[in-house]
Amino acid sequence: MKNLELKSIIKECQFEELNQEEQHLLELAIEATNRSYAPYSNFRVGAALLLNNGVEIVGCNQENAAYPAGLCAERSALFAAGAQYPDVPVKLLAIAARTPKGELQAEPVSPCGVCRQVIIETETRYRQPVRILLYGRDRIYAIDGISSLMPLSFTEF
Ligand code: THU
Repeated sequence: MKNLELKSIIKECQFEELNQEEQHLLELAIEATNRSYAPYSNFRVGAALLLNNGVEIVGCNQENAAYPAGLCAERSALFAAGAQYPDVPVKLLAIAARTPKGELQAEPVSPCGVCRQVIIETETRYRQPVRILLYGRDRIYAIDGISSLMPLSFTEF
């Protein structure tokens, strides 16, 4: 038997180290947290994505009294992009969240497994990696492609 070592590269950085496009997208994600509908968890998440054609699309989590009917911020943005620009690849995705007290999270918030699966599908569909920015007040994680967050992923059958 042998160990298979899987490598993930996640860059830790500060807001000022990102380029203007990335900073702007993070600002859109932060702004989108304010439009989240999260009366059950009070965890307000915002997502913003940039398409190859320069269009920016935002999303935020939308909860429901029937819990599973709700949707995460990331998928709300990704599905809106798919609905409006089905032929345009997604270049960049930024995510931010607020604590139930309303403060921006100090540590970066990571997408849930289901959203990771949708990001994988987005990369496969457009044959282009999605650069992911996870915002935290103390640090930001920058990830070039979902494979670093979801190795050995299921892509095709
Ligand atoms: N949530 C997101 O919108 N994105 C994530 O990456 C993690 C979780 C939402 C789902 C639910 O509305 C709330 O946060 C608490 O789990």
